Amino acid sequence: MGSRWVMTELSIGSRCDVMVSDLSQDGAGIGRCGEAVVFVPGALPQERVLARLVHRGRRHWLSQLDQVLVASPERRRPPCSLASSCGGCSLQHLAPAAQARWKGDHVAQALQRIAAIHHPVAPLMAAPIDLGYRNRAIIPLERRSDGQVRGGYYRRGSHRIVNLNQCPVLDPRIDALVEPIKADLAATDWPIDRDGHNGGGLRHLALRLGRRSGEMQITLISSHDRLPGLGTLARQWTNRWDGVVGVSLNLQPEATNVLMGPQTRLISGRATVRERFADLEFTIASDTFFQVFTEQAERVVPLLLDVLASADRPGLAIDAYCGIGTYSLPLAAAGWQVLGLEINPRSVDLAQRNAKANGLEQRCAFAACDVAGALAEHLPSADLLFIDPPRRGLDQEVVATILSATPRRLVYLSCNPASLARDLKPLVSSGRMELLLVQPIDFFPHTTHVETLVVLRRRP
Ligand SMILES: C[S@@+](CC[C@H](N)C(=O)[O-])C[C@H]1O[C@@H](n2cnc3c(N)ncnc32)[C@H](O)[C@@H]1O
Repeated sequence: MGSRWVMTELSIGSRCDVMVSDLSQDGAGIGRCGEAVVFVPGALPQERVLARLVHRGRRHWLSQLDQVLVASPERRRPPCSLASSCGGCSLQHLAPAAQARWKGDHVAQALQRIAAIHHPVAPLMAAPIDLGYRNRAIIPLERRSDGQVRGGYYRRGSHRIVNLNQCPVLDPRIDALVEPIKADLAATDWPIDRDGHNGGGLRHLALRLGRRSGEMQITLISSHDRLPGLGTLARQWTNRWDGVVGVSLNLQPEATNVLMGPQTRLISGRATVRERFADLEFTIASDTFFQVFTEQAERVVPLLLDVLASADRPGLAIDAYCGIGTYSLPLAAAGWQVLGLEINPRSVDLAQRNAKANGLEQRCAFAACDVAGALAEHLPSADLLFIDPPRRGLDQEVVATILSATPRRLVYLSCNPASLARDLKPLVSSGRMELLLVQPIDFFPHTTHVETLVVLRRRP
């Protein structure tokens, strides 16, 4: 059969025999059927699979896995029964050691492909536990025509909810709340629609846990506050579950993919949970950022302090995108004077409160600002710049500031290898900075996400 014939014969619905050779950034198997490139979610490298074509893209076909004909030795039974449909985790069917190898390779390839950086990548710091680790869940909700409430993550590649009552990557303490809360919501007559259509209403359920304190926050995200009986239900929840310290309502009237709106109202109990992190006490609110895997995020601290101790005497550190001071406080405790920059004013308030609670307020100052606007003023006097931006990475203005006032030491913590590589490219290719360490850390087992800690120093 000539390859030309295969190309012209392929159409939506065709069944293909695919040899899988690689994994995409989203964890789909990539293989060939004749000359056509086919993405097969759920298939693994070294596998031969039967797949049904469902969509033709510009450069490849997207397909659905029908049957694994020859399985990879690294395939294993996923711990979650919904793994093949739920879009929350895409690597559950891959053995943990192979997940670790793939994540390390993924970081190395992004650096090479996007930034032409060929620096060695340290072996991934795998997580000691890979289930029950998440301290946070934000679950889209919808009410069916029979009144039942469905809630869960989106089906892979779609906007349809996979209804779930148990999610094995969630800490069991918040996992146990999902089903009874959905049942209580079903018994109300509130409109429930994650997209805020049909007059709006309840959209998402957000749960947050302090892993060390056991304290939990329930937050309902709604497009409006017309939820009769909410106060009574909230008090029932705080009374029913020991760990639940508060229930809040977050208002998100905008039809946008930003899940939480700017206004959060406390309905019952208190609005925060406590967490112990790097031997320090933190207070976290439901609408402020905190790393989802407490223990893995904590492993950054000794790594960071070891790197700094080997070369730097504590001076002024800027913690840009500092959140509630997660890394500012450990730096301050190690003797650094820290200036934290953060755009969310509620995070800044908590960062100040956290510094005070740990007796570190003399060593920390926090400013509510956009890093892009504020960095140029402060960077010339800093010895260390620690940056931990959102997934989209740094604004060009921030990169330009770093190039014009290059700090002695730059530590970049990133949850997105592609934006990390894009941001590092000008810093390294300018010759102004030298890479010392690229350390991937698994903050998100079973997903395709990986955190990377990168250390650079200014060239003399
Ligand atoms: C990945 S989180 C890191 C937070 C903190 N370092 C931690 O580990 O908990 C990114 C933080 O950047 C903040 N942020 C986003 N855009 C920002 C901007 N333009 N300027 C300042 N902070 C920003 C977010 O509110 C969030 O707290």
